Amino acid sequence: MTIDFARERILTLRDKINYYNQKYYEESISEISDLEFDRLLEELIQLERSFPELQTEDSPSQRVGGAITKEFKTVFHKRPMLSLGNTYTLDEVRDFDERVRKSMLQPPVYFCEQKFDGVAISLIYKNGKLSQAVTRGDGEKGDDITNNAKTIRSLPLSLRAKEFPAEFEVRGEVYLSQEAFEALNREKEEAGEEKMANPRNTASGTLKLQDSAEVARRRLSCYVYQLLVDDQQITDHAEGIALLEKWGFPVSPTYQLCPSIEEVFAYINKWDHDRHSLPLVTDGVVIKVNDFRQREMLGFTAKSPRWAIAFKYKSESAKTRLLHVSYQVGRTGAVTPVANLQAVLLAGTTVKRASLHNANEIDRLQLHEGDMVFVEKGGEIIPKITGVEFESRSSDAKPILFPTHCPICGTRLVRSEGEAAFYCPNDNGCAPQIKGRIEHFIQRKAMEIENLGAETIELLFQEGLVKNPADLYDLQYDQVLNLNRFAEKSARNLIDAIDKSKAMPFENVLFALGIRFVGRTVAEKLARHLRSMNALMTADREALLQAPEVGEKIADSLLSYFSQADHLSMIQRLEAHGLQLKVEQKETKLLSSSLEGKTFLISGVFAGISREELSDRIQAHGGKMLSGVSGNLQYLVAGENMGPSKLEKARKLGVQIISEQELNNMINP
Ligand code: IVH
Repeated sequence: MTIDFARERILTLRDKINYYNQKYYEESISEISDLEFDRLLEELIQLERSFPELQTEDSPSQRVGGAITKEFKTVFHKRPMLSLGNTYTLDEVRDFDERVRKSMLQPPVYFCEQKFDGVAISLIYKNGKLSQAVTRGDGEKGDDITNNAKTIRSLPLSLRAKEFPAEFEVRGEVYLSQEAFEALNREKEEAGEEKMANPRNTASGTLKLQDSAEVARRRLSCYVYQLLVDDQQITDHAEGIALLEKWGFPVSPTYQLCPSIEEVFAYINKWDHDRHSLPLVTDGVVIKVNDFRQREMLGFTAKSPRWAIAFKYKSESAKTRLLHVSYQVGRTGAVTPVANLQAVLLAGTTVKRASLHNANEIDRLQLHEGDMVFVEKGGEIIPKITGVEFESRSSDAKPILFPTHCPICGTRLVRSEGEAAFYCPNDNGCAPQIKGRIEHFIQRKAMEIENLGAETIELLFQEGLVKNPADLYDLQYDQVLNLNRFAEKSARNLIDAIDKSKAMPFENVLFALGIRFVGRTVAEKLARHLRSMNALMTADREALLQAPEVGEKIADSLLSYFSQADHLSMIQRLEAHGLQLKVEQKETKLLSSSLEGKTFLISGVFAGISREELSDRIQAHGGKMLSGVSGNLQYLVAGENMGPSKLEKARKLGVQIISEQELNNMINP
């Protein structure tokens, strides 16, 4: 393809993608399917990769991330990012109104907004392009998280409007929608990882991740609530918000101009009730004086403006009786206590159960049977018990004691050092663990075996037909037909679905095994890095630690998994059944043969490129990637922070250690 042709196609693709994106985020209209959208984006990414000189900062390809930031640059805010004074009662809001009125002649008009429970962000636009995104930090200076902010799809990377100031700043709140938060936690649960506490903390942690591709995957969102321009043409806040809307920024449609404090009260009351229908967590409302001249007259205290105040909702709480505590055993053997409650209405929904997390939580609360407890819904989706009404406890109430043995199979529970959870170690004999592993194996993100649900798994388990995932592939049509509720067609469908799953790619198989801490993302990265089950099973700790995303916890979990004979024999059986245990050779378009016959290994972190991209680049020019330092290795491409032992080993073996720049010179001499 010629560069002229590529340039034209890239421009068309960018226009199309921006158009569909805007339709989706501003008007909630999907004119094309997600799949078609992803295809356009993928084509753009590939083209920009082949023609790096055509890459631009505001290309929608930036949305999928990939850039790694080793250390976030500290940036001073042009204007400090202040905080807001808090109020908790309507009387305090009335006091605020009186203070405001005293300092001015004209009565104020208030602009009311939601108080979004996320992370504040400052966005600098130059010539209509997003040029820098900075966290609030200490208010004076924050972290430059531009790469991560670019993955927020609703934020414009370049404005489509015709007229706008050459430079302006927008402030807003980055948040994780309830939906995205729940999806992330489902993923964590599947990987046997600890779940995130609430959307706010998750959003704040996500913004500080080094790998922007992971940030993109988590799907952050943003609402903006402030426009700052130096030579101010605008005279009030409403005008600023209207401009932001016009320029395509995400503004929550819940704001309202309130010409009197009574209307402010009505706004507060309305949203106290309605906020649960919003896509994100809000924890109050913000009341701002609309007029900028009036704002100027009011001025600031040391920390916050005198022209705005936050009203915070009390986090809703209800009192009810603890009926009993039950214990669930998960696929990983973790035993989770659940409080069963007398039904009570809380924040618009009936609550019958509350999470107790682990044994420490029961100790902390000193729970007794029949206690009257307080339940609260904060940022968390599942309500939690925040306290006990000790006065109403009867003197003979028995304390709740965490079981010493598995409530299902009776095996003595164990707790490893540093972990909060107790585990049932009987992984091959404890029914919910066995069934849980099979349910995990067949799910959509793993082997995607349709026609097989929890009920059928229960049946197959009861009949002694399936005890581990490999047994599924031994199932015969007649055996299925003999099961309750199965007829010829349904039995055939099940057998076919199981058969079809053999074609699922290696990364799915790896995720399906349910190795602790190996979620979908880690499985993908491991598969791409090590490329086969064999390589993974024989990799030592050091080699595992070289894989992207793999830290000590994951490496140890993998080593422990592959050290168990029953796991190895199951994998052998999966292989014999024809499952995909290696990565299919990707058809990389050969761009040149300048690296032909040369072998490479990548290590450490690179400033502007992920290791995967670097590896793709090497292969696109004919180079071969190896998975560890060995006698066959010729070049080690070294980034920052690479392990000293690896460097040492490479030196000993006479491997040439080169930088990214030197690699590029080899490609384009
Ligand atoms: S205006 C000087 N508007 O609340 C006032 N802030 O306590 C600048 N926040 O750091 C903030 N929703 O993270 C404003 N509609 C809203 C907001 C909002 C949430 C957060 C923001 C700020 C904090 C101040």
